[in-house]
Amino acid sequence: MWLIVGLIVSFVLFYDLSLKLVYLFKAKRAGVRPVAMYVNWPFGIRNLYMFLKSTKNRNALEQTVITMRKKKERTFAMEILGMMNVVTRDPENVKAVLATNFKSFDLGLREAQLSYFLGSGIFTLSSHGWKHSRNLLRPQFSREQVAQIESLRRHATSLEKILDKGEFVNIQHLFHQLTMDTATEFLFGESVDSLDNSQRVVNGVSAAEFVEAYTLCLRWSLIRIQFGPLYRLITSSEFRKAIARARRFVEYFVQQALDRPIDKDESSYVFTHELAKVTRDPVVIRDQAFNVLLAGRDTTASLLSYTLWHLSHNPEIYAKLREAVKNQFGEESTEEVTFEGLKRCKYLLNVINETLRINPTVPRNTRTATRDTTLPRGGGPNGDEPVFIPKGMPVVYSVYEIHRQPELWGPDVEEFRPERWDTHSSHGWEYLPFNGGPRICLGQQFALTEASFTVMRIAQKYERLELLDATAPLVNDVSLTSMIDGGFMLKFHPSKVYQ
Ligand code: HEM
Repeated sequence: MWLIVGLIVSFVLFYDLSLKLVYLFKAKRAGVRPVAMYVNWPFGIRNLYMFLKSTKNRNALEQTVITMRKKKERTFAMEILGMMNVVTRDPENVKAVLATNFKSFDLGLREAQLSYFLGSGIFTLSSHGWKHSRNLLRPQFSREQVAQIESLRRHATSLEKILDKGEFVNIQHLFHQLTMDTATEFLFGESVDSLDNSQRVVNGVSAAEFVEAYTLCLRWSLIRIQFGPLYRLITSSEFRKAIARARRFVEYFVQQALDRPIDKDESSYVFTHELAKVTRDPVVIRDQAFNVLLAGRDTTASLLSYTLWHLSHNPEIYAKLREAVKNQFGEESTEEVTFEGLKRCKYLLNVINETLRINPTVPRNTRTATRDTTLPRGGGPNGDEPVFIPKGMPVVYSVYEIHRQPELWGPDVEEFRPERWDTHSSHGWEYLPFNGGPRICLGQQFALTEASFTVMRIAQKYERLELLDATAPLVNDVSLTSMIDGGFMLKFHPSKVYQ
């Protein structure tokens, strides 16, 4: 018995040592400085334990900041489950991974983990497959596509009907419904209208069943991601049935798009209709639609939720926003609101930018080296020389931490202060809510238009936002995106004009 334990311990220690030695050997052979390495407990078990504990305690983002700042290096390697990961909080290195050295990195395991549900689409593919998807989808996000204020107005009105009841509501939950409604209208030309409790049924699946199935698929997919290389173990008949149900619903709209006569001069844009003009493959259209839904729905709902969190906790900022909105769009209706007008409302943009700074809804990300390569900084005595990254090594970067570096943002970095955007106009590598480089978010304008319109309308109509519990702390629930754990309850008080 003790012999077996001894053998296992020796193997683990030998494995850990060899991991480090092989890396040092390769770095030396390449003539590049090695990155600082932290191999504390064998197999990186302690790091895994800390990661799981912080996920359970809902303080994963805060814990990452502490871990990163404890090390004197801004870029270092740490082991998790027998695998070395490079962690960086240096914007120059993030720029290399995402832009200047883009070709040396891909999505690593993400494709395999997510394709079970999402198939092959822009969000899961790397290399040529991704490039093809990007070229296919880019025209669907042109300015005309995303400027559809009329659709936003209709869905915002459904939201208002609920807010006008004058009861406390879980606003994050409603924003998830709102963004599902707008995204499905954009993707399929027909919304699931979840805010209106739509009873629509297609291919035997109701709109409500689709939303439920999609949410289930997303939950299972996120668990697959958390299991890293063991993702294949995560499946169930519930998951498979949900995938089948969600697909049946979407396939109806894909078929409709394929059956329509092609009209090149159409004035209103629908994602699946446009895609059907360039590909006749129903699986391609279905998978790309799922990919875009995943990329765009929860992220925008989270942005809206965090914005309302900050506005409800800072009444003076909300009052200033109301003034700016009333000056530009009047007090009563949204008739005058245009895409360009929203972009001109400076304080509204400041509020959104500041929310995305302090609570980026994609707070951390990973890329994996596809070949032996380097990052420009982190090596040598001053950390300003390149470091070696071997093929297969994941590079993890925390946008959340970068957005909170006092040396980049000033000493009041933890404060929600939209005014900082009056002077801080640079959108360099210190501000990355939508990523950067060739894989920058395709839906950025769509998301900003939807968020600005919704926040504008709330500020225009509601004089006061009342929190059910003003003392509850902001707790983040982090998976692919970050959201407010359990949401929060708000009551909306309309201004006199609306009473
Ligand atoms: C506040 C809202 C949003 C945020 C913060 C956000 C952020 C991001 C980020 C960080 C990425 C890069 C992910 C990666 O490569 O690992 C991304 C990619 C993407 N986003 Fe967004 N996004 C938002 C809304 C949207 C919306 C509304 C849509 C579509 C309607 C959308 C479509 C996409 C697509 C298609 C990609 C993949 C681009 C590619 O890989 O080439 N996003 N987004």
